[in-house]
Amino acid sequence: MAVFDKVVRGGAYRALGMPQFDYLTEQQLQSIQAYIVNQAWTDFEAQQAAARK
Ligand code: HEM
Repeated sequence: MAVFDKVVRGGAYRALGMPQFDYLTEQQLQSIQAYIVNQAWTDFEAQQAAARK
């Protein structure tokens, strides 16, 4: 969670154009990360299934 927190709440990429979401709670941060990881697995599994056809 450490790097993700620095980027999303800490504003580590402000210079690159990403906003700083410093109003998010720890719980909200974890929920967003869980959503992203889950979506990545869903997409990966779809990609693997397509490659097997
Ligand atoms: C909840 C919303 C968001 C989350 C969780 C999030 C998360 C992240 C993370 C984890 C990275 C680092 C990716 C890496 O190093 O591979 C990143 C990079 C970045 N994000 Fe976001 N982001 C969000 C919203 C936004 C928005 C709204 C913008 C623009 C308006 C934005 C612009 C960028 C940019 C420009 C980078 C740098 C890309 C680069 O490496 O050049 N992000 N973001």
